[in-house]
Amino acid sequence: MTILLRAATTADVPLLERWDEMPDVIASDPDDDWNWAIELGVERDWREQLVAELDGRPIGFVQIIDPAREDSHYWGDCGPDLAAIDVWIGEPDCLGKGYGTQIMRQAIARCFADPRVAAILIDPLASNTRAHRFYERLGFHLVARRWFGSSDCLVMRLDRKRWRG
Ligand SMILES: CC(C)(COP(=O)(O)OP(=O)(O)OC[C@H]1O[C@@H](n2cnc3c(N)ncnc32)[C@H](O)[C@@H]1OP(=O)(O)O)[C@@H](O)C(=O)NCCC(=O)NCCS
Repeated sequence: MTILLRAATTADVPLLERWDEMPDVIASDPDDDWNWAIELGVERDWREQLVAELDGRPIGFVQIIDPAREDSHYWGDCGPDLAAIDVWIGEPDCLGKGYGTQIMRQAIARCFADPRVAAILIDPLASNTRAHRFYERLGFHLVARRWFGSSDCLVMRLDRKRWRG
C-alpha cells in the first residue's frame, strides 16, 4: 500500500465537497468554508493543497501554509520560520488504518525540506482528543489553547530538532 501526495486541482472539487459532508470531517472543522471551486483554481505561493492517494485512490487532503504570509492572517503575527498543516481523511473506510500517520510523515518531511522552516503548527479543535493523541504520537506538543474565530482550539507544535530526534 503506497500513499502519495499530489497537487489538488479543480478536478478534485466534487471530491472535496463530498468529503466536506462526512461526519468526522464536519466534526473536526465545523466552521470553515474552504471555497474549493475558487481556491483550487488559484495558485498561491504561500500554500500547497494536496490530495493523498492510496494506491491511486484519493483518500484525504493536506494543506501546508506559511502562516506568516497566508492571506487572511489566520494565525496572527508569526515569525517567518513556521509552516502550518491541515489534514483530514475523507473516506470513512480509511480512518484508523495508519494512513493518516503516513500522510502526516510525508507532509512533515515536505515542510522541513524547506531549510527556513524551524517548526510546524497545527490547530485541532480542543474537543478533538483523538486527533491530539495522533499528533502527540508524531512528536507535536501542546503550546496553547486559543480561539480561532468561534473555534476553541489547541495549538500544537513540532520543532525540527524534535523531528530529527
Ligand atoms: C486525524 C486523522 C488524520 C488521523 O488519521 P488516521 O489514519 O485515522 O490515524 P492513524 O490510523 O494513522 O492513527 C490512529 C490514531 O488517529 C486518531 N484517529 C483515528 N480516527 C480518528 C477520527 N475519526 N478522528 C480523529 N482522530 C482519529 C486516533 O488518535 C488514533 O489512535 P487511537 O486509535 O489510539 O485513538 C484522521 O482520523 C481524520 O482525518 N479524522 C477526521 C478529521 C480530523 O479529525 N482531522 C484532524 C483535524 S485537526
